[in-house]
Amino acid sequence: MTAPLSTLHVELGTRRYPILIGDGILSEQLLPLLHESLPQHGRNILVLSNPTVAGHYLNAVLHAFQNHDKAYNVHHMLIPDGESYKSLATYSDVMDVLVKQRFDRDCVIIALGGGVVGDLAGFVAATWQRGVQCLQIPTTLLAQVDSSVGGKTAVNHPGGKNLIGAFHQPAAVLIDTQVLTTLPDRELGAGIAEIIKYGIMADAEFFRWLQQNMQPLLDKDPQALAHAIHTSCAIKARVVAADETEQGQRALLNLGHTFGHAIEAATQYSSWLHGEAVATGMVMAARLSCLRGFIGTTYRDAIIDLIQSAHLPTVPPIAMSIDTWLELMSRDKKVKDGTMRFILPTGPGAAEIFSNVTQAELTRVINESIAQA
Ligand code: NAD
Ligand code: GLY
Repeated sequence: MTAPLSTLHVELGTRRYPILIGDGILSEQLLPLLHESLPQHGRNILVLSNPTVAGHYLNAVLHAFQNHDKAYNVHHMLIPDGESYKSLATYSDVMDVLVKQRFDRDCVIIALGGGVVGDLAGFVAATWQRGVQCLQIPTTLLAQVDSSVGGKTAVNHPGGKNLIGAFHQPAAVLIDTQVLTTLPDRELGAGIAEIIKYGIMADAEFFRWLQQNMQPLLDKDPQALAHAIHTSCAIKARVVAADETEQGQRALLNLGHTFGHAIEAATQYSSWLHGEAVATGMVMAARLSCLRGFIGTTYRDAIIDLIQSAHLPTVPPIAMSIDTWLELMSRDKKVKDGTMRFILPTGPGAAEIFSNVTQAELTRVINESIAQA
């Protein structure tokens, strides 16, 4: 069964923007959304994508611009697929195209892809001629529920992930659940990890819904996907509207990320997907929270069971030594004045930021986690 069209807004005053969610809406809704959210946009459009995504969906995007009375100049550019191309080198290649095509300040950048394409396209939009508009068409579940919303844009540096970037909100986000039909199962799971994150940190009822609806989500049931995406984006939109530049509560969106980033770094960003590392990171955060007495074993185990039910990993790599853990976690972007910060669940639908976690507590949690292998 298909899901009805739904719209949310990220309430940022004059920069308020819509998130449109529906099944099979890409071609028909793109132009209406563009006109509604960017009535003054120019005729130059750059669609950024990669060969994997473009093979499936570029034609649908190009088709939307055909036969329109405004004579569009739609240019597309494909960047190679992979995290390593979210780089300054690729950014520079895109800038070369914009210069060559003489794109002006009224142009629109359209990101068609997962978080890699979205983050890069967003950073291009943030910086081309000091900032132009960007429309996000996320095609992975992770990008649909997380990276396309909220305006964090970035490229990587050899010294670390997302080190070079800017906050630049998109003009609109178009989420078509039908594009997930071609998404590999592992990538779907990585997105489900971020969806579970919202249930843990902000919405106990959604957590219970996920306990009851994991199989439909894994089966890519359009209605289940639409509900999970809508609820996740609504939570993210609320948090971003309250704290756009992460001075406070936006950090809660990083639940599981301090442990997760350490796993990703220790495994050279190659064998674990970001969402998989976050899933295990959330299990470790739940263990730490339980150890501190914030949550009981019943809720801790419910978190672990939910993550397991999505076929996500719950045990970190056993080869990581305590020293490696501590070193990698101390490099995390959430470290403030040399102090590590952890987001811990404090009850159903609630989480808080803690900066007083001791080395002894971390050692205990890491050992307890590894012992589950
Ligand atoms: P990704 O963009 O690398 O996409 C994963 C894989 O799926 C790629 O091979 C891609 O080509 C393929 N793919 C995408 N859509 C597809 C589809 N519909 N059908 C078939 N294949 C498809 O990975 P991701 O998980 O989407 O994004 C990860 C990136 O997002 C990282 O760089 C991370 O730093 C960033 N991120 C940013 C934010 C933010 O707030 N800006 C939040 C979370 C993650
Ligand atoms: N993905 C975390 C954030 O957008 O803040």
